[in-house]
Amino acid sequence: MRKNKKVVIFGGTNPLGLALIDLLLQERLQIIATYNKTKPKEKKSEVFYQKLDVSSQSEIKNFFKRLDKDVSCFVSLVGRSAPKKFIDCEKQFVDELFNINFISQYELISRSAKYFLNLQKQGKIIVITSLNALFPLPNWSIYSASKHALHAMLLSASYELKKKGIQLTAVASGAIKRTYLEKDQKQYLGLRERNFIFGLLLPFSTYEKVAHEIVLMIKSNKNPRELIIGRDAKLMYVMSKFLPRSLWHEIIQRTIQF
Ligand SMILES: NC(=O)c1ccc[n+]([C@@H]2O[C@H](COP(=O)([O-])OP(=O)(O)OC[C@H]3O[C@@H](n4cnc5c(N)ncnc54)[C@H](OP(=O)(O)O)[C@@H]3O)[C@@H](O)[C@H]2O)c1
Repeated sequence: MRKNKKVVIFGGTNPLGLALIDLLLQERLQIIATYNKTKPKEKKSEVFYQKLDVSSQSEIKNFFKRLDKDVSCFVSLVGRSAPKKFIDCEKQFVDELFNINFISQYELISRSAKYFLNLQKQGKIIVITSLNALFPLPNWSIYSASKHALHAMLLSASYELKKKGIQLTAVASGAIKRTYLEKDQKQYLGLRERNFIFGLLLPFSTYEKVAHEIVLMIKSNKNPRELIIGRDAKLMYVMSKFLPRSLWHEIIQRTIQF
């Protein structure tokens, strides 16, 4: 069977990227997967892997220069999620998070949009933000700020690009169950990890579920500007919108450990 579409995944070797690749291969799509530090453990013959440090403007420029004309969708899973108490954050940490979560994303998204515009073809760009892009949570001040900035940029740009046939989607995923926690992240266990009832009420999402939602968008003709994934993100989003502000802030103050 002929493979007729090409998808570029920035950050294609992280757990979400691996889950996405597995699903896309079942759809017989061609894939270009980029990575920075995490080399692909087992290389799949149908996937073209390419090293790309998105903090380097020149590497991004060269990547797009060499790209052929068959890409129909760009997916960015790149990001740095790092909880840290506000008081412990330093300028270097702020620079690092904004560089990866916002400035590099700007580079990737604007070049992806120009790729479609130059070829005068329609296309899709899907970018992962976070539930932290919808409302700030304690321990995540800098991450949340960087993802808010990214989410806002995506929404604003989506109005402009839609007119030109480019669908841009911000994917605000709730927390995804990690297979491992870095040592310094264990102190940031949330309520659902400490309390069984909350764990049932607000279950974690899985890499497979988020990947599945992204595949549906890659296949669909009409994508939303923003997609919220996960019961935790949906429920908290509705609460943050409709509860009195003071009550919402009190709930966050009392339930999240910090
Ligand atoms: N985990 C969650 O609960 C959750 C929830 C909502 C949203 N998200 C978002 O989902 C994305 C993946 O998160 P994750 O938790 O799965 O984190 P992760 O495993 O640490 O993935 C981070 C990704 O960003 C890439 N990256 C970082 N710096 C880079 C650079 N300079 N150049 C190129 N690539 C770079 C990494 O590539 P290398 O490994 O090759 O360096 C990796 O693919 C992030 O945007 C995160 O904000 C995560």
